[in-house]
Amino acid sequence: MTPEGLERAARMVADSGLLAVSSGAGMSRESGIPTFRDAMEGLWARFDPQELATEAGFRANPRRVWSWYAWRRERVLNACPNPGHVAVAQLAEIVPELVVVTQNVDGLHADAGSRGVVEVHGSIRRVRCLDRGHAFTGELPPYTEGEEQDPPPCPVCGSPLRPDVVWFGEMLPVDAVQRAWSLAGRCGAMLLIGTSGTVWPAAELPLVARRSGARVIEVNPHPSELTHAADVFLQGPAGEVLPALLAAIRTAAR
Ligand code: OAD
Repeated sequence: MTPEGLERAARMVADSGLLAVSSGAGMSRESGIPTFRDAMEGLWARFDPQELATEAGFRANPRRVWSWYAWRRERVLNACPNPGHVAVAQLAEIVPELVVVTQNVDGLHADAGSRGVVEVHGSIRRVRCLDRGHAFTGELPPYTEGEEQDPPPCPVCGSPLRPDVVWFGEMLPVDAVQRAWSLAGRCGAMLLIGTSGTVWPAAELPLVARRSGARVIEVNPHPSELTHAADVFLQGPAGEVLPALLAAIRTAAR
C-alpha cells in the first residue's frame, strides 16, 4: 500500500456516508484460519470440495464431512480476531454508518465488536439438522484433532446434524442476501477485504456497489478477480492495511 493510496482511500471512506465492508477468508488469515484457495495451505488444496462442502458429499460420507467441520469449528473457537477485525469494528465508531457483509463463517467480526454482521454463507458456530432445519442449541461433543465423529442426531427429528453454512449448490440465506445487496446498492463506498472474488453471487457485491456509483477500495496482498473494479487497491495483509487506513482516516478527520 502506498501513502497516496491510503490517503485517497481515507477520503473515500470519510466521504462515504454509508460504508459497506465486504470480507472474505483473507480477513481471518492472520487469525490463523487458512483461506480456501491459498496455493500453499488453502483448505481446498488438501480436500475435495465436492466431497466436503455439498449436501451430496455429506449424505455420502456424513462422518468425514461432520469431522472436517468439527475440526474447523475447533480452530475457529480457539481463534482471536486480528488487528484487521478490530480496525473494522473501530471504523464503525468514526464513520456515519458501517455494515459488514462477510462470506466467512467464523464469527470473528462479531468477536471483534462489529454489530449486525451479515453472514451470507452462514456460520460454522451454528448447527441445524439435515432434513428439517431444526436449530440445535445443545452441547456438541468435544473434538480432538485427527478423530472422526458421526454427526449427532437431531433431538427433535433424529436426522443428522450439519453445520449451518452454505454448501456448494445451496441457496444463500434470503434475508442475508436481501440485506447485502441492498447495502451494496446504497453505500457510498465499499471496503473489499480478503476475497479472491471467485465465488458467486457474493463476488457480485462490489460490482453492484460500483454500478450504483460507490467507490470500491480493495485490501488484499494479491490482485483478485475483482481488482479491476476497485478505485483504490491497497496491497497488503488486512491486519496491517486496515489499522493504517483507520489511522489515515483519523488524521484526515482532525
Ligand atoms: P479465497 O480463499 O478464495 O480467497 C482468499 C483471498 O484472501 C485471496 O484473494 C488471498 O489473496 C487473500 N488473502 C490472503 N491472505 C490475506 C491477508 N492476510 N489479508 C487479506 N487478504 C488475504 O476465499 P474467499 O474469496 O473468501 O464459500 O472464498 C469465498 C468462498 O469460497 C468461501 O466463503 C467459501 C468457499 O467456497 C462457501 O463456503 C459457500
